[in-house]
Amino acid sequence: MVSWRPTITCVPRSLPALPAALPAALLCLALAACDGGVHGTPGGSGVRDPYFPKAGNGGYDVGHYGLTLAYDPDGGRLTGTAVITARATRDLSAFDLDLRGLHLDEVTVEGRGARWNRAGQELTVRPHDDLDRGETFTTTVRYSGRPETITDPDGSEEGWLPTADGALGLGEPVGSMAWFPGDHHPSDKASYDITVTVPAGLQAVSNGELKSETTRNGRTTTVWHTAEPMASYVATVAVGHYTISRSTTPDGLPVYTAVDPTQAAAADRVLARIPEIMAWETYNFGPYPFSSTGAIVDRPADSGYALETQNRPVFPGAPDTATLVHELAHQWYGDSVTPRTWRDMWLNEGFATYAEWLWAEDHGGPTAQQTFDKVYRSPADSDLWAFPPAEPSSAADISDRPVYDRGAMVLQKIRQKVGDDTFYDIVQGWAAAHRHGNADTAAFTAYVEKKAPGEDFSAVWKDWLYGDGRPARP
Ligand code: TRP
Ligand code: ZN
Repeated sequence: MVSWRPTITCVPRSLPALPAALPAALLCLALAACDGGVHGTPGGSGVRDPYFPKAGNGGYDVGHYGLTLAYDPDGGRLTGTAVITARATRDLSAFDLDLRGLHLDEVTVEGRGARWNRAGQELTVRPHDDLDRGETFTTTVRYSGRPETITDPDGSEEGWLPTADGALGLGEPVGSMAWFPGDHHPSDKASYDITVTVPAGLQAVSNGELKSETTRNGRTTTVWHTAEPMASYVATVAVGHYTISRSTTPDGLPVYTAVDPTQAAAADRVLARIPEIMAWETYNFGPYPFSSTGAIVDRPADSGYALETQNRPVFPGAPDTATLVHELAHQWYGDSVTPRTWRDMWLNEGFATYAEWLWAEDHGGPTAQQTFDKVYRSPADSDLWAFPPAEPSSAADISDRPVYDRGAMVLQKIRQKVGDDTFYDIVQGWAAAHRHGNADTAAFTAYVEKKAPGEDFSAVWKDWLYGDGRPARP
């Protein structure tokens, strides 16, 4: 007996209900009557992230974003065209993009006008023709308006942040949808070309490498190219007055730093250590995953936190060395190996915090074990023990202390068990195994177990990674 499941969701209303045993030939006729051979279903409004269920979208995978932006700090107005190249992962009659605020001027798919509607952050696009599973398609969205500053569940501000002399686009965890439409979930990484036009006299700095800068009719256009996969939450645009400095590391890696002139005195001294920090991190974590490095330093009031934006992290004021080490370590752990969902944040913050501990250990400070011991002495009612690092209590907690410090403690527990040789083999191997990809906590624990087959990690996972409260023994 032949078992056959038709993938027809469009049955013309004029046809009577199809009898169960309808001959295949008649079904084909019915199909042909569907306008344009409609066979897809809508892609869906999220990817079931446990903390941000509406983030990202179903049914497609973005390969490339081409963003052409113009920003005028005086009016606070952004004009944008996003050209999004994606592959359908199933037959689609419609798909969603994430976009907050802004005015939509036009949406086309494969060059034809598309119908669309908006509900909250979901922009649902109905292409003229259905998309076939496996098909690569291009969506162009033209938009404009004053981009929003988004307040996170934890109260921090992201999205589009107007600054003293321009603006900052910051995306963790869901801010990027304030300045371009897209599949705004860390699981869908893509390459980017970002072009920004600003009034002459201002600079526009973004991710990747600078391809061109031209000034015409009182406006400067800067073109940035990011070849390696990038999660949208680490995409950035910084508009303002910056002192630009370009150099190369001894390894030949381009360094591009942009510093607000009011921050230069303090920033220049610490940013001069980028080549040294990159060399130390490459030695410890393995080959650097991107084609350039650097930093963007704005004023202290411009953002409430530093962020590991790809290639060049953003800092509110000159960072201290530990913060620079932290954000550059994220390029391996976070930007290259990216969390599968926002639950896996400790894989970012635990590693970046542990990088600070290791830096101190290698530069005349306390050993990582001494830092661990000191952190462990936090009283049982401390915020540190509020929840296990692998299971933040809510979306408001994904950047809280347990994710950072207790996440780093998990790494120290692994190091205690396996010793330095295997430990460095694990941190480098982990970065290599998921380079430019995504990974979750289960993949990490499985990886560690594979690298140290003789060891039993069950108590480490149970007490330190998943357990509530302060573990009984350090
Ligand atoms: N992830 C950033 C870092 O560790 C910090 C950060 C970004 C943050 N957004 C935040 C911290 C919101 C607290 C709240 O460098
Ligand atoms: Zn961090």
